Amino acid sequence: MTTAGLKSTPGGALRGTVRAPGDKSISHRSMILGALASGTTTVEGLLEGADVLATAQAMRSFGARVEQEGVGRWRIEGQGGFVEPSDVVDCGNAGTGVRLIMGAAAGFPLCATFTGDNSLRGRPMGRVLDPLARMGATWLGRDKGRLPLTLKGGNLRGLSYKLPMASAQVKSAVLLAGLHAEGGVEVIEPEATRDHTERMLRAFGAEVIVEDRVGVRHIRLPAGQKLTGTHVAVPGDPSSAAFPLVAGLIVPGSEVTVEGVMLNELRTGLFTTLQEMGADLVIANVRESSGEQVGDITARYSPDMKGVVVPPERAPAMIDEYPILAVAAAFAEGSTVMRGIGEMRVKESDRIALTAAGLKACGVTVEEEPEGMTVIGTARGNHPVRGGGKVITHGDHRIAMSHLILGMAAQEPVEIDEPGMIATSFPGFAELMRGLGGAIDEA
Ligand code: S3P
Repeated sequence: MTTAGLKSTPGGALRGTVRAPGDKSISHRSMILGALASGTTTVEGLLEGADVLATAQAMRSFGARVEQEGVGRWRIEGQGGFVEPSDVVDCGNAGTGVRLIMGAAAGFPLCATFTGDNSLRGRPMGRVLDPLARMGATWLGRDKGRLPLTLKGGNLRGLSYKLPMASAQVKSAVLLAGLHAEGGVEVIEPEATRDHTERMLRAFGAEVIVEDRVGVRHIRLPAGQKLTGTHVAVPGDPSSAAFPLVAGLIVPGSEVTVEGVMLNELRTGLFTTLQEMGADLVIANVRESSGEQVGDITARYSPDMKGVVVPPERAPAMIDEYPILAVAAAFAEGSTVMRGIGEMRVKESDRIALTAAGLKACGVTVEEEPEGMTVIGTARGNHPVRGGGKVITHGDHRIAMSHLILGMAAQEPVEIDEPGMIATSFPGFAELMRGLGGAIDEA
């Protein structure tokens, strides 16, 4: 892991065609469902980032055989259930990993202690532990459910649970626990969140019933489900594709294509928003792969983007993309208003605070609100985006990548600390951007 910082320098146009790394959400789920299932699961295109590798290791400790067979190609021999791990399960930086694994583990008569890195130990786990406790699991942890914590599962009863926040991780934890709950489970989702768990449960042979009742989704998993190993082709991650694509929009003269990007509409809020801003972003060659739509997206330099008000109800479909949207907004004309994004404060970092601080350090005006932020774009204003900031990332990969992209289009280089964390979701990010013509070097 690099200990020096990284610096991006403004330079020439970015040009070329690249592939996004495998989707992080689907990669975690393929490991966890593969381990829960009976028989062999094969995965291609797995994101081999630190987060997913931590989940792979955790699955080994719960009894599955997990082996890498080639680049992005993995084989999981599931045992049809979890056994008790003999040591603490360390999920690294991965909120998705630990929350989904706790849900899955709660279904079995075992005791497991979970921990993670500094960031993960600060994040709220009560949102998952509350429904699991209602189903009959018990736990002991510090500070209202922060890691490290110990979970004891088994003998779960069914539950109908209305999500108190729009969280696919909480939904997924309840569904995975529900696989082994008497009576099955129902999750009621007032705001639709990414549905990869539902789709993948079906691909592993489970019955999942989804009803839309006046915009409110009721997701039911009847009792007595069996999962059988299958093949999973992981599509490209739209949350990672966002970085080279926004770079293509803001660096003069650029044209960047990212191939094989997942287009699940519960993930593509950023692309819709950028198009509303007037970005030249074209989606082509749409096809289906492993039950998900994928396509190739081309971004061309778009000097005429205009600020917009992002509808708050779009937040779940782009919750990880607001930092890079804020960068695009800095280069647009007028204000971009982002509200209803309080969940950003409990991600790998407080992403509202760090995005606002990073942009301000680069000369951009940002108004921060408790559950939102407004970026005042500089295009056609009286100054360009200055850059020049030294950005504190608190180990947050998306804060790091967003500001490195800003530095490629600003007037002065931008420096970030802790670049090693980029490997949690986008190993090879700096090399990929260099391949397009971007200048990223050790600071
Ligand atoms: C994820 C859900 C989202 C997202 C995270 C991945 C998932 O978190 O921010 O990066 O794979 O289910 P929440 O469920 O907390 O919104």
